Amino acid sequence: MVTVALAGATTGFGLTMLRVFHHLNSEGIKPYKLVLLSRSAQPEWSAKGIDVRPIDYANHSQLTTALGDVHTVLSVIGGDAEAIRNSQLALLAAAKEAGVKRFAPSEYAGTSNEGIDLYAGKAEVWSACQAVASKTGMEVTSFQCGLFMSIFATGTPKPPTPIGLREGAKTGEEEALAGLRPWSFVLNMKAGTADLPGHGTAPIVLTDMRDIATFVYHALSLPIWPEVLGMRGDVKSFREMIAIAERVQSRKILVQENTVAKMRAQAEEDPGKVFYNQVRIALTEKWAMVPDTLNQGFPELKPTTCEEFVEKWWRGVEIGEPSWGEDKSFM
Ligand SMILES: NC(=O)c1ccc[n+]([C@@H]2O[C@H](COP(=O)([O-])OP(=O)(O)OC[C@H]3O[C@@H](n4cnc5c(N)ncnc54)[C@H](OP(=O)(O)O)[C@@H]3O)[C@@H](O)[C@H]2O)c1
Repeated sequence: MVTVALAGATTGFGLTMLRVFHHLNSEGIKPYKLVLLSRSAQPEWSAKGIDVRPIDYANHSQLTTALGDVHTVLSVIGGDAEAIRNSQLALLAAAKEAGVKRFAPSEYAGTSNEGIDLYAGKAEVWSACQAVASKTGMEVTSFQCGLFMSIFATGTPKPPTPIGLREGAKTGEEEALAGLRPWSFVLNMKAGTADLPGHGTAPIVLTDMRDIATFVYHALSLPIWPEVLGMRGDVKSFREMIAIAERVQSRKILVQENTVAKMRAQAEEDPGKVFYNQVRIALTEKWAMVPDTLNQGFPELKPTTCEEFVEKWWRGVEIGEPSWGEDKSFM
């Protein structure tokens, strides 16, 4: 049985990945031995049969020992920029020494990390992965999924479905966010506003977070890992998303276009809006048009479309008049 270790899977997207992996494994589709690397004990997961290994990223020999029998390491480490850089470099160094065969760093975004300050550490980690790969033959891959579709979930008042209840979600919003912090990126479904990058016509890959986890689970069985494993839930521009939102919510969305110069100025003026604007600028350059490698490899997987997601979380919701509120761009 192949041993797969997840690092950084106790909150956020990683927790969704762990839950989906555990569920698919328990369905017996293709069982892997799952190891959870965490900075703290996780009795809840130990009780479910997951091999929890508490680790300290500053302790190289302990980390290396923890990876002794591990074939594949999936990092979904988040936190801040420093954690993304330092903890992943430590994890990679230990994986190299332990003879790990496959390593996927915490990428899960667009086609590159250039031009996004928060992702500078990711870029460094990816270069280090490539260096280890060429030196040792370790296979490394960048899983790319575009934007998380959960950005359209923030504010839904719907109750959880059986999937959320299985996972312990108290509200539909918690289920729909799947670990993403409540965040309305560009299109605010609750307020009814869209703060577009450019004219909002650039195509964007958007993927449901549980579908990302499912694609990655299937990717574990690929005979070879190429350097990029892309996946597409759906491809839509924000203009197309506005049309879907208007149809499902039966109201007009308030729209504001932003030139690249305006977004650049916003990033310079407000440190809290650097990431938001750098990603929006990248979107106008088709940053989120990641390849569909895993869709091609696993055509039986039918990921959620944007239309299905918006229908599920916003159809029938009583909603007021659209309003920009105080902050026009970011909540
Ligand atoms: N494409 C998109 O739209 C999108 C949106 C959001 C996030 N993402 C990406 O998804 C990935 C996960 O992000 P997230 O927001 O879900 O992560 P997160 O919840 O902030 O953190 C995930 C895990 O990282 C570990 N961690 C936190 N601080 C750490 C530190 N200082 N040292 C070592 N480990 C630490 C923790 O695991 P333990 O406590 O168990 O060790 C935590 O459970 C990132 O690559 C992020 O860029 C993509």
